[in-house]
Amino acid sequence: MSMTERHKKLEKNVTLLAAATLVTVAIGGIVEIAPLFWIDNTIEKVEGVRPYTPLEQAGRDVYIREGCYVCHSQMIRPFRDEVERYGHYSLAAESMYDHPFQWGSKRTGPDLARVGGRYSDEWHVQHLKDPQAMVPESIMPSYSFLADTDLKISDPAGVLMTLQMVGVPYSERDVERAAEDLLAQADPERDAEDLQERYPKSQIRDFDGNPDRVTEMDALVAYLQMLGTLVDVNSAAAQEELGREKGR
Ligand code: HEC
Repeated sequence: MSMTERHKKLEKNVTLLAAATLVTVAIGGIVEIAPLFWIDNTIEKVEGVRPYTPLEQAGRDVYIREGCYVCHSQMIRPFRDEVERYGHYSLAAESMYDHPFQWGSKRTGPDLARVGGRYSDEWHVQHLKDPQAMVPESIMPSYSFLADTDLKISDPAGVLMTLQMVGVPYSERDVERAAEDLLAQADPERDAEDLQERYPKSQIRDFDGNPDRVTEMDALVAYLQMLGTLVDVNSAAAQEELGREKGR
């Protein structure tokens, strides 16, 4: 049978054609997918990236519950206009412990990937309570109830253990101390030295302006204030990591 004849047979027999197509496409799929099962990590770790503290994680959960992602992305793309507006473009490693990630694509409001440290806590609290008081033309809704809602996490250790299951490297001590850490980060009365040692660059203070209680506002502001602050993108070490990331 000549090549043309074989080809004719293949093209005229739908079942044979479908089977051959499947085999061809499967080869491409296997080549792309199979290596992922043998490499431990597709993302190189960058200095400074660490799991969220229990309070930041709680704030992140409030962020997701309230649907902030509907209007805000958390991924600065490597384009000049974005970098000038929002800061250094996001690195893959910066969201490696995010479950679920908040990259998003809808930007009714600005990207928040590096909003940490850009405003004071008071600004955030006022803005979340009444966005139009800070930015008159804002269409962001009010979230003032967060300041009146005590932060209630029924099983702080369970949250970290669940994240452990999907690969977030919390230590045994992190899990053990989760309930204590949750409060210690926002309550000036408690000792947070141990927390700060385990979670470098964690910010310890009363975030919502009310030191008497730990509210959902404390958690959300703690989360917003750490976004994009863990990696020192301008330091020499980070540059080296970046070079490696680009070089791959
Ligand atoms: C309906 C869309 C919408 C939703 C939902 C929304 N925002 Fe916004 N947000 C905006 C808009 C528009 C702005 C820009 C104007 C302003 O600063 O208020 C903004 C601004 C911000 C800013 C200031 C960013 C900067 O760089 O100036 C922060 C922080 C913020 N939002 C946090 C949140 C959080 C946290 C939530 C959820 C609790 C949330 N937003 C929900 C639309 C939204």
